[in-house]
Amino acid sequence: MKKIILDVDPGHDDAVAIILAEAEENIDVLGITVVSGNNSLENTLNNTLKICTHLKIDTPVYSGMDMPMVRDRFLSTESIGNVHGETGLDGPVFGEITKKPEDTHAVNYIIDTIKNSKEKITVVATGPLSNIGMSLRLEPKIIENIEEIVIMGGAYGTGNVTPSAEFNIIADPEAAHVVFSSGLPIVMMGLDLTRQAKATKEVVDKIGTVGNKASKLIVDLMEFFTKTQKDFFGWEAPPVHDPTTIAYLIDPSMFEFVECNVQISLEHGMTYGRTVCDMHHATELPRNTKVATKIDFDKFWNLVYENVKKY
Ligand code: BDR
Ligand code: CA
Repeated sequence: MKKIILDVDPGHDDAVAIILAEAEENIDVLGITVVSGNNSLENTLNNTLKICTHLKIDTPVYSGMDMPMVRDRFLSTESIGNVHGETGLDGPVFGEITKKPEDTHAVNYIIDTIKNSKEKITVVATGPLSNIGMSLRLEPKIIENIEEIVIMGGAYGTGNVTPSAEFNIIADPEAAHVVFSSGLPIVMMGLDLTRQAKATKEVVDKIGTVGNKASKLIVDLMEFFTKTQKDFFGWEAPPVHDPTTIAYLIDPSMFEFVECNVQISLEHGMTYGRTVCDMHHATELPRNTKVATKIDFDKFWNLVYENVKKY
């Protein structure tokens, strides 16, 4: 049983990551920490509470950083392709939110939980890395008790916000730098990988046949996400980035990787926020990251389907 802290900024695909992680019996989600990214913290927190209320998820939720560590605020509503809509989770209709967040700040929760755990903890991050970067700066000792950090972010090919940068990294490049230079074992699910995890019509229809609350929620989320991803990027089906991190924890054999050096570009030009990946080992720099390159499409969506049935 893997003990994880799940750091999110829902987000249509973050919602699917939460659904997958909470249903999987080999994963123990100790806490969900929330960061601003796809939308303001107020909205990403509300979206997390909506999902948890709707699906009766009782994992404690912690509110975290509303601002990046250094740069000015950059929300996906401010990027050219605002694929998540005004609330950050447009599409589904939710009832009244009854779940409440905990009083502790997410950064304090992350530090205390990792420091006090008898077993090593895995950190999964599907939003900008502000909460994780702050935790590492405030208490670097937690590194010793982190199993690995699995990130959705970056790309070794093209970005989705600038030609170089992917959203989660450019939203807080300095925090990403703290994480990638920490010495922690990192697994990176970048756009090159997640663009292979598209929710095609067949995939969504099959999940829809389950007919429970989680299945209906995914269908509604994907209806909206399909439209915006088509309008902004021209994809016929939307890449569902974030749950690939959870799929890796459940069955790493469905992925292929290149282990290499990854650094974050902090130059304030066209490369700001790029994950510079030494995929061909042009340098002898430490191989700090497992960069995912391929996913088994059928296995991935079957895993989601099987877990949706458990709601
Ligand atoms: C990432 O950015 C967000 O919009 C998604 O939730 C995902 O985490 C993809 O670039
Ligand atoms: Ca996200």
